[in-house]
Amino acid sequence: MSVNVLFAASEERWLEYQKSLENASFKSGISANFSTNFDNTEVDYIAYAPNGPVSDFSSYTRLKAVLGLWAGVETVVDNPTLNVPMTRMVDSGLREGMVEWVTGHVLRYHLGMDAHIMGQNGIWKPECPPLARHRKVGVLGLGALGSACVKALAALGFQVCGWSRTQKEIAGVKCLSGEQGLEDTLTQSEILVLLLPLTPATENLINTERLALMPKGAKLLNPGRGALIDDEALLGALNAGHIGHATLDTFRVEPLPADHPYWAHERITITPHLASETRADTAAEVIAENIRRFEAGEEMLFIVDRAAGY
Ligand SMILES: NC(=O)c1ccc[n+]([C@@H]2O[C@H](COP(=O)([O-])OP(=O)(O)OC[C@H]3O[C@@H](n4cnc5c(N)ncnc54)[C@H](OP(=O)(O)O)[C@@H]3O)[C@@H](O)[C@H]2O)c1
Repeated sequence: MSVNVLFAASEERWLEYQKSLENASFKSGISANFSTNFDNTEVDYIAYAPNGPVSDFSSYTRLKAVLGLWAGVETVVDNPTLNVPMTRMVDSGLREGMVEWVTGHVLRYHLGMDAHIMGQNGIWKPECPPLARHRKVGVLGLGALGSACVKALAALGFQVCGWSRTQKEIAGVKCLSGEQGLEDTLTQSEILVLLLPLTPATENLINTERLALMPKGAKLLNPGRGALIDDEALLGALNAGHIGHATLDTFRVEPLPADHPYWAHERITITPHLASETRADTAAEVIAENIRRFEAGEEMLFIVDRAAGY
């Protein structure tokens, strides 16, 4: 029997996804119709993005599962009309993109590239470049994306410390957890990467007190979620010179308003939420595999833990 899958993301993405979803469902052996327009009572699955047309799931009376197209689920996890299992997106495209963004910006900070890119001042002043094995990098969040990033950073030779809710073991990485683990990670991180989900437990995690624990001149990368950082605290720490520079990809309000002080700050680089994007070809395979699993009575991949909030 065929299932109906409502594609509920932005319209442009449908053009990109349609063929990939059809190909992936054919390859996984499921019979599925994909459309942006079914009668609500005939929908079996919703391929869902928070910026798409669906925010109330209650009229989808036949719904079996919501299959998220985004890694972050903070805007839907406490939706009271969501009464079926939800999965989030973990795919190789997202992972590769994040590893490239994070390693690229860590290397930029580590090698002090900005000084050369922006400082063509006619002064010939060679300095011995640093080596990764002398640089301490911390990553908060060791999930699908954080764990891939710490492995890539460790492979480049950095001294990497990672922090997560539950204790992890990753070869070549010092893994910590708990409040003391957070303090230890912050205290030693010359470059800190935030790859936590936004939950009640992580909102404003990076506040004045925690920024003060970091080494003077430390750099901060936030490809996680904007609200992980207390914005006023970060601006204060940058203005005081305690934090040397920040590169921010995610913000409390997106798009970042044109009058936000981050735009004009000389020690902030803004990238417009592009660190990592779901790719249609690989994401479609995850969607098709989860439909196959649900229809076969198997456990789906990447089920959201609604109590934990991610
Ligand atoms: N900028 C972009 O383009 C972009 C793209 C994709 C994703 N993202 C962001 O990246 C985030 C991470 O993605 P992911 O796929 O790696 O998520 P994930 O697999 O769910 O991993 C989340 C990690 O954070 C840890 N964590 C959660 N709550 C915590 C807490 N209270 N204290 C300590 N650690 C905590 C988890 O610990 P456990 O391992 O113990 O569960 C896990 O290691 C997403 O939630 C999203 O916000 C951004």
